[in-house]
Amino acid sequence: MSRIHEALKKAEQERAASQASLPTSTPPPIAEKQDSPASVVCESVNPEALPSDTQRFAGPMDMDSPLSRCAQTQWKPEEKTMLFFNGNDTARGSEEFRTLRSRLYHAREKMALKKVLITSALPREGKSFTAANLAQVMARQHGRRVLLIDADLRSPRLHSMLGTLASPGLSEFLNGRIDEFSIMQRGPMENLFFVPAGGDISNPAELVASERLRLFMQRVENFFDWIIVDSPPAVPVSDASVLAKACEGVLIVVRSSATPLEVARRARDEFAEQMLVGVVLNGMDRQSDGYMQYYDAYTQQTTES
Ligand SMILES: Nc1ncnc2c1ncn2[C@@H]1O[C@H](COP(=O)(O)OP(=O)(O)OP(=O)(O)O)[C@@H](O)[C@H]1O
Ligand SMILES: [Mg+2]
Repeated sequence: MSRIHEALKKAEQERAASQASLPTSTPPPIAEKQDSPASVVCESVNPEALPSDTQRFAGPMDMDSPLSRCAQTQWKPEEKTMLFFNGNDTARGSEEFRTLRSRLYHAREKMALKKVLITSALPREGKSFTAANLAQVMARQHGRRVLLIDADLRSPRLHSMLGTLASPGLSEFLNGRIDEFSIMQRGPMENLFFVPAGGDISNPAELVASERLRLFMQRVENFFDWIIVDSPPAVPVSDASVLAKACEGVLIVVRSSATPLEVARRARDEFAEQMLVGVVLNGMDRQSDGYMQYYDAYTQQTTES
């Protein structure tokens, strides 16, 4: 049984257990249920031990670089859910994201991995939360430049999580109205760049399927160590599987005690197996479990080959 399968199964067991103890059929949204973020991973990571396997890009911005054209914007990140902006690296949930980062570096030792799509089976499982915090924790490493893209053109949320402008963004680029660097924003975190979804979105499915998405990736990828792509849920609409073709890896978010196993499997089946780099179990209630749980589904290729 693959480790990703095991992770999905464990999530289903949790869901069954929580339904047995809580007769209400639909759990409340995660944000309402918890005071502070809960997430997936539990190992401590020594950031010094992370491999320096890619060119380091960050440092003073070269004024001749096209990146110097990115707009410097005022951001007001959500305090409770954007974990890495206040300089306090001990926020609840932050250690889990450091471990996730470490897992992705380990995956990258075995496969080409820079562009990572974040998706889930259903709405509201924590895709945008995961994408935003993963991008931040990557950018917090010295010398790592990260691009976070809101490619959920149906229900864009990242701009409001980060407290910044929604446009111009990806949709304006895909519609051919603007160039790739004019849709990027820089905020308070030096190495974190952001592309919002944009405001020009009447035909999301056609837009994400356009050749211009690939063109965008080609033009920008050499400027970044990591590109994290937020997406719509994979089961109701096809955007995520289309977007995955422009990425090397896919992380599937499974909401603890909520996502039915069959639905999570359907999401998994949307993607080629070699692209699946892991499952993030989001929203664990650690107190009720008495210990931190961790579904070690990452780096499937590395552990099963
Ligand atoms: N682990 C967490 N701890 C606290 N709040 C969370 C957590 N995960 C998600 N949330 C909150 O739950 C809400 C839904 O999360 P999010 O927007 O990331 O889901 P999504 O899967 O991107 O939804 P959609 O399918 O609508 O794009 C948001 O308000 C988010 O801040
Ligand atoms: Mg979202």
